[in-house]
Amino acid sequence: MNIDNFKYRVYGRTRSRGKKSITKENFLLKTEKYIIKKLDKKTNYILDIGSGYGESTIFLSTNNKKNIIISCETYINGNLNLVNKIENHGVTNIRIYPGNVNQFLDNLNQDIKLKKIYILFPDPWPKKKHIKRRLITNDFLKKLNIFLQPNGEIVIATDSLSYSKQIFKCIFNVKDLFNWNNQRNMYLDLNDYYDLETKYYNKAIISGKKPSIFILTKI
Ligand SMILES: C[S@@+](CC[C@H](N)C(=O)[O-])C[C@H]1O[C@@H](n2cnc3c(N)ncnc32)[C@H](O)[C@@H]1O
Repeated sequence: MNIDNFKYRVYGRTRSRGKKSITKENFLLKTEKYIIKKLDKKTNYILDIGSGYGESTIFLSTNNKKNIIISCETYINGNLNLVNKIENHGVTNIRIYPGNVNQFLDNLNQDIKLKKIYILFPDPWPKKKHIKRRLITNDFLKKLNIFLQPNGEIVIATDSLSYSKQIFKCIFNVKDLFNWNNQRNMYLDLNDYYDLETKYYNKAIISGKKPSIFILTKI
């Protein structure tokens, strides 16, 4: 899969400033072994979109040992951090796609059907002028639907009230494609479902925000 395509614009930072920056060659050298090359129809894949520093990817790999976890992340230092974690934990069921998820999906054979897709704390882009940058839209959910197995799940978490409202609207707009599983549950907090703390989950808790989780199943 070619990840050098500038058609896919990335908002936000792709590398950290200062000393921690790395050349493209060194990045490829460090990550090459883990980069996903080809997917096959027989494997069960779980896609972790915007995996940040990789806490969720490691969590998913530990809890789904028979599946392959694909971490899709544009942030170079996040990918490097995940590779360090993979090596420290001796994990064998993680592959990485260090690029834009739209590019990953647009190049994916439509015969490939994913078991689950996680989108934990997508960038909230709170300013009105930046709202168009948000990842979760009607069209994005429709695109994910193409690549999900029957009964496949999408798990979304956010601590942004305004993004939650947008997600509610999107779920309504694509109601023919997905059931919203936890719609009637009293608890909508990520930790009511998963014993998982990511960097952005902890940031939300420290600032007194309550993250919400949306679990959708493909109809
Ligand atoms: C707010 S962070 C959340 C990171 C992590 N999931 C967590 O909970 O700590 C959102 C992440 O999504 C990544 N991201 C944003 N747009 C993306 C895209 N189109 N494809 C892949 N990753 C993306 C960003 O680089 C960033 O690391």
